[in-house]
Amino acid sequence: MRVAVLASGRGSNFEAIARAILEGKINAEFALLIVNRRTAEAVQRAEKLGVNWIYVDPFSFPSREDYDRRLVEILKRVGADLICLAGYNLLVSGLFVDAFPDRVLNIHPSLLPSFPGLKPHWQAVTYGVKISGVTVHLVDKGVDTGPVVAQCAVPVSPEDTPESLADKVLPWEHRLYPQVVKWFADGRVKREGRKVVVEGADYNSLPAVPALEDF
Ligand code: GRF
Repeated sequence: MRVAVLASGRGSNFEAIARAILEGKINAEFALLIVNRRTAEAVQRAEKLGVNWIYVDPFSFPSREDYDRRLVEILKRVGADLICLAGYNLLVSGLFVDAFPDRVLNIHPSLLPSFPGLKPHWQAVTYGVKISGVTVHLVDKGVDTGPVVAQCAVPVSPEDTPESLADKVLPWEHRLYPQVVKWFADGRVKREGRKVVVEGADYNSLPAVPALEDF
């Protein structure tokens, strides 16, 4: 399996995935990081890790579909077969999703379907929930609506701000996302409609469901 990551900013989830691959914890190769912002910190991380990256400027394409068509072309050329969106701030179009059926993942820092879209930590704190967390899901044509692969619960305290909650959730993102990539690499992920199942995984304990095995 060849993994590609699309990122727009800090790139800490990209680094968690790429490191896990480079360290041999995942039976996969790292194909490419694509960024849509020239200044994305993810690029410095890629340089440090010594993995391939490319900046593709969305504003030099007449439409989002044209941009995505170019990305698909690049991803196919490098042989990527699992695409991880990680802090990628553009919605991918239908043609992108259709190019990699059941092979585009996203990470969203809330327990979906609660708090999709922008500012999930602000939404969670403002709503007053006592448990938030993180979701890794397959990408479909909606916004954060695709079938859930794995989730991890994180407690919310009365003192939490969106920033402090983000700090609590992030370390779990860095464990959950590589774990899900590993499950894909090991061929253990099956989907029936909206139900995604990781074969042989433990679905009976918290905070992560399925339970983390390697990260
Ligand atoms: C993460 O919280 C991710 O879940 C969300 O945006 C943030 C990106 O962080 N979609 P990073 O760029 O991976 O450090």
